[in-house]
Amino acid sequence: MNIFIIGNGGREHALAWKIKQSPLSNELFIAPGNAGTATVGINVDISITDFDGLSSFCINNKIEMLVVGPEEPLVKGICDFFAASPATQHILVFGPSKAAARLEGSKAFAKEFMQRHQIPTAAYKEFNASNYQEGVQYIKQHTLPIVIKADGLAAGKGVVICQNHIEALAEFELMIQQAKFGDASKRVVIEEFLTGIELSVFALTDGKNYVLLPEAKDYKKIGKADSGPNTGGMGAVSPVPFADEEFLKKIEKQIVVPTIAGLQQEQLDYKGVVFIGIIKVGEEPFVIEYNCRFGDPETEVIMPRIENDLVELFMATAQQRLNEITIIQNPQTAVTVVAVSGGYPNEYTKGKVITGLDDINLPGTLIFHSGTKQEGENVVTNGGRVLAITSLGDNIKEASEQSVYVLEHLFFDDIYYRDDIGYEFLRDQ
Ligand code: AMP
Ligand code: GLY
Repeated sequence: MNIFIIGNGGREHALAWKIKQSPLSNELFIAPGNAGTATVGINVDISITDFDGLSSFCINNKIEMLVVGPEEPLVKGICDFFAASPATQHILVFGPSKAAARLEGSKAFAKEFMQRHQIPTAAYKEFNASNYQEGVQYIKQHTLPIVIKADGLAAGKGVVICQNHIEALAEFELMIQQAKFGDASKRVVIEEFLTGIELSVFALTDGKNYVLLPEAKDYKKIGKADSGPNTGGMGAVSPVPFADEEFLKKIEKQIVVPTIAGLQQEQLDYKGVVFIGIIKVGEEPFVIEYNCRFGDPETEVIMPRIENDLVELFMATAQQRLNEITIIQNPQTAVTVVAVSGGYPNEYTKGKVITGLDDINLPGTLIFHSGTKQEGENVVTNGGRVLAITSLGDNIKEASEQSVYVLEHLFFDDIYYRDDIGYEFLRDQ
């Protein structure tokens, strides 16, 4: 079948790489894609939110499956858009409906959903302009630190962890009164800070059945040993050493099962992946957030660990046949290390020539592109996160060292990466 992937990051390159291996895939297109996806399929210059443009392209190119990478088109209702037109409703769309994508699109909705279904999460309260003063009082008596979350999508910047009350009150005012994130911060969730270690869990669901994909842990901080500001993700590992069978069973029972049952009970149409951000507090799992799409850079470590045919998995998801599927995991460890533009996550320059890409070809290593584009003969940087180098090995140390070794042979002006991804697990290996 002809397949169309929407997005342009390392996640989409990893999805494209895996989809291309399927005997079920014929022509593969990616919109808008990057220089890496162009080596696997054909890039198409259409915006990820131009639903008319995307649907015309699907009709003209006999697309039978649409895989939506990023959250924005999902939250804006791309699945409903395709389902509503007789010309596109036969296309298998991988992703939740607009109503179900509120699990990611509205933090307040997600918190209420978790309350309704007794899913463990941090205690919270929701505020907007009409109960602003109540919010001020709530913050004043809240224990520290205080977590303030803009309700809507805010390009990954909508969560602020405040270490004192003055900072929290200022942030609350900025979000609600000054519309710091526009409409996204008209509503705000204030929640209890949870202390623990995080992991990302991925449940593929057809709305009724689910299967668990390999779990991963991402590294959000820019600096070594998790220091400095947050980024989109500097690396990831899978499997996650502390997520043993017992803990994963607990997550499944206390979180995944009630989440899928809740979606079904509330008739929220969901045929895609529920990405659950979990924090382990003591021995107990709590939900930090839901996302309605795959994670980036988690996808770059989980795709190489899935031995099933991804197109078959996505077809089973769209056709409500996940009960027929057993996930087969590659027992090896995958580590991805992300190379970023100097200055990121603050200001950085694009357009720097990347060299070394054609020279290095190590078995067990995959070079996924995040922010790159082809410019004449050259591949140049085109974003903060530029490349995600994934290696498979017998343990984190081996895989991580191999990714770092490959990065030592790649170059662009002002390249930066963390050479300590998975560091907290190394002493056990
Ligand atoms: P989110 O945008 O929801 O992924 O949140 C960004 C990050 O903020 C999470 O990955 C956590 O590291 C942190 N975070 C969010 N909520 C909490 C919380 N209640 N307690 C501790 N950390 C949190
Ligand atoms: N790695 C976290 C995310 O994709 O949101």
